[in-house]
Amino acid sequence: MADSPLLSWQLRGADPVAFQVEVGGVWSSGRVTDPAAISARYAGPPLRPGTRYDWQVTLWDRDGTPGTARSWFETGLDTWSAAWIAADPDAVEHVDPPTEGDLALRDHGLLPCPQLRRAFHARSRVAAARLHISAKGLYAATVNGHRAGDGRLTPGWTDYRRRIQYQTLDVTRWIAEGENVLGVTLADGWWSGYVGFDPRRPGYHYGRFPELIAELHLTYADGSAEVVGTDDAWRVGHGHVRYADLLKGECHDLRAATPGWDRPGFDDAGWRPVVVTGRDHTRLAASPDEPVRAVREIAPAAVTRLGPAAHLVDFGQNLAGRLRLALPELRPGTRVVIRHAETLDGAGRLDTANLRTADATDVLVSAGPATVFEPDFTYHGFRYAEISGVADLGEVSAVVLHSDTAWAGTFECSDPEVNRLQRNIEWGQRGNFVSVPTDCPQRDERLGWMADAQVFLPAACFNADVAAFFAKWLRDVRDAQTPDGGFPNVAPRLSGVAEEGAPGWADAGVLVPWQLYRVYGDPAFLDVDSMAAWVDFVHRHNPDLIWRARTGPHYADWLAPGPATPRDLLATAFFHRSADLTARAAGVHGRTADEERLRRLAGDIRTAFIKTFAPAPGRLAGDTQTGYLLALAFGLLPPEWVAPAARRLAELVEEHGPQTGFLGVNLLCPVLSAHGRADLAHALLRRTDPPSWLHQVRNGATTVWERWDGKGAPSMNSFNHYAFGSIGAWLYGGVAGIGQAPGSVAYRELVIRPLPGDLSWARASYESARGRIAVSWERAEGAFHLAVTVPPGSTATVHLPDGQTHHVPSGDHLFRSTQET
Ligand code: BGC
Repeated sequence: MADSPLLSWQLRGADPVAFQVEVGGVWSSGRVTDPAAISARYAGPPLRPGTRYDWQVTLWDRDGTPGTARSWFETGLDTWSAAWIAADPDAVEHVDPPTEGDLALRDHGLLPCPQLRRAFHARSRVAAARLHISAKGLYAATVNGHRAGDGRLTPGWTDYRRRIQYQTLDVTRWIAEGENVLGVTLADGWWSGYVGFDPRRPGYHYGRFPELIAELHLTYADGSAEVVGTDDAWRVGHGHVRYADLLKGECHDLRAATPGWDRPGFDDAGWRPVVVTGRDHTRLAASPDEPVRAVREIAPAAVTRLGPAAHLVDFGQNLAGRLRLALPELRPGTRVVIRHAETLDGAGRLDTANLRTADATDVLVSAGPATVFEPDFTYHGFRYAEISGVADLGEVSAVVLHSDTAWAGTFECSDPEVNRLQRNIEWGQRGNFVSVPTDCPQRDERLGWMADAQVFLPAACFNADVAAFFAKWLRDVRDAQTPDGGFPNVAPRLSGVAEEGAPGWADAGVLVPWQLYRVYGDPAFLDVDSMAAWVDFVHRHNPDLIWRARTGPHYADWLAPGPATPRDLLATAFFHRSADLTARAAGVHGRTADEERLRRLAGDIRTAFIKTFAPAPGRLAGDTQTGYLLALAFGLLPPEWVAPAARRLAELVEEHGPQTGFLGVNLLCPVLSAHGRADLAHALLRRTDPPSWLHQVRNGATTVWERWDGKGAPSMNSFNHYAFGSIGAWLYGGVAGIGQAPGSVAYRELVIRPLPGDLSWARASYESARGRIAVSWERAEGAFHLAVTVPPGSTATVHLPDGQTHHVPSGDHLFRSTQET
């Protein structure tokens, strides 16, 4: 993505015909006639670093009436002067008596979290203070004891060898005249803690111990400025956070607490100087996405006493986050242990078998007085928690953490079980969008698996505004691309884990940018060089155009319950898809030669596919649902073979129910309904026998399961995996019928085609990049009633179930048909 700011707006009211963007006296776009515009990229002189710019957009409608909206943005740092600093890892003070901290060090190499402090003097009144801060690891910063910013698990996960995000926090209100203290606690996080399942590397994927870099920029009321940065003047000590790890959990021993350490007046004479570890600023980059935040707190649905000092808490919802626990006064040294799990075993106890090596256990050692405990540098995927060590449980809640993308969609219909499914999909999105899109939040995995992300993305885009979240992740994907063009299976890259890309996984490097471009309309999502490098990589190794070589670990149609789709067929379908979409992306950027070359390549792959895998008209090798789905969805068949192939797909679905794994499931209902079998798509949606979505709902699922039936070896049986939740896109796009025309982006040309099935009503709303879209339909008095809201600047083609078609402009519209089909 280009680095100059994209200034965007959402529309309300009349259709615009022209716009003008002005940025704080430094740039004006001039009046631009463009009825489709919803953004402009800043194209003025270089912006000054660390500066706030006010900007405004004026829009004119057909009558020449202007309307203006104002906003602002602030630029980050262009040059850093601070040093990277850390605690000397060999100089850890131990506490007496030893606690979990020492055991963690012995068993897992987990060190106490260093506390770094720097006292400084503000010589007069401070008008503005900005803290630019990052860590190799995780940081939690305070100014005079007040938490700076509301981000959690900051600075977020990237391949730190390529890029390290920093945040800019407004801390003006915490700065006082006179003495002040900056305090930062560091934890291992993804940098040096346990990540994923790679047994060869117990932690230390990117580094050995956490490091900090920060610059506090003070602007005094008199206009003068001063910078307090990380350097050798900082002091470091250890306190109550005896270890913190994303997978293992977190331990606070309050007997080792250092009260007041992050406020003025603390005597740090016994603390040590920090070590300066380097001055490399080249990898620092402003974070483009929303931070992870503590988004809400959930009260228990039930609390059961298990023994004199043990309780089981059921939050009634599988989620990602951690507990917040009010503890009464306890005997000093009392250990309170919190374990987490998604499910219970037959005896009603936590079932932690599917967590693998993720201990997901938090510990508090009391110093005596009542306190509130909430870990800061870990999170768990759980519905249940067992709390032992305390007889009288005080207030307890689950703190829900996720990347705080703005919620954009709602879907509801007349079937409460389908509504529960939609809620499960939303919870899956919450629990798995934690700095990166992950496969699951509970076991020792939580990786940015690329197929999971690409199949779920269309559903995710309806639920929330994920533009910034995925813009950040696409940087991770490109950082992970090899010099010869290969995409991996997981991004951010993690050394030794699933490095060479498999079909449908690596292809996310092409599929995800294309989907984001269609939904948000920003061509900057399409990095044609990166996409083409991938297509050329596959081509180079497979000159006969059947993708057999360099398929990485070839996961095939992962977790498909039915017969296996031939691997070469599946791979070649994705090869075609990537070539086809990259050709289109080249077209968007006006790169005609690339477009033509890639279009020819896509055509040749298609010919090879038909020759190799389509032995007879409408039949595909392997005769599997996923085979037909890929061929139909990706346009691989000659026109006259489409109807027979769709018929064969329908037969297989009628006979067996769904048999797809991760790579076919997102296409099932969309492809069936696109080929005249909306009835069958509805039957699948409402089916309750396994395998099915509602089988999960009937069995108490509160998130979508990794496997259709939730039955599998515990080592591979997550109850919060969103790939099968990709059906969510069809709830909005099929049942409610919100779609756009093939060449349209950012919903400029809406196609509204509700598919009622046997439901009696449905409604969906979606805050699109252009403005609000809403569809609501119901059956009443023998008629079908439809209400549609078309955002300004858009038009809609509305298809009613009885075959009527209407073309309508922006605004609210009502339709009625007496006869239904
Ligand atoms: C993950 C999946 C992932 C897969 C690759 C699993 O361990 O949980 O979601 O895509 O590996 O096949």
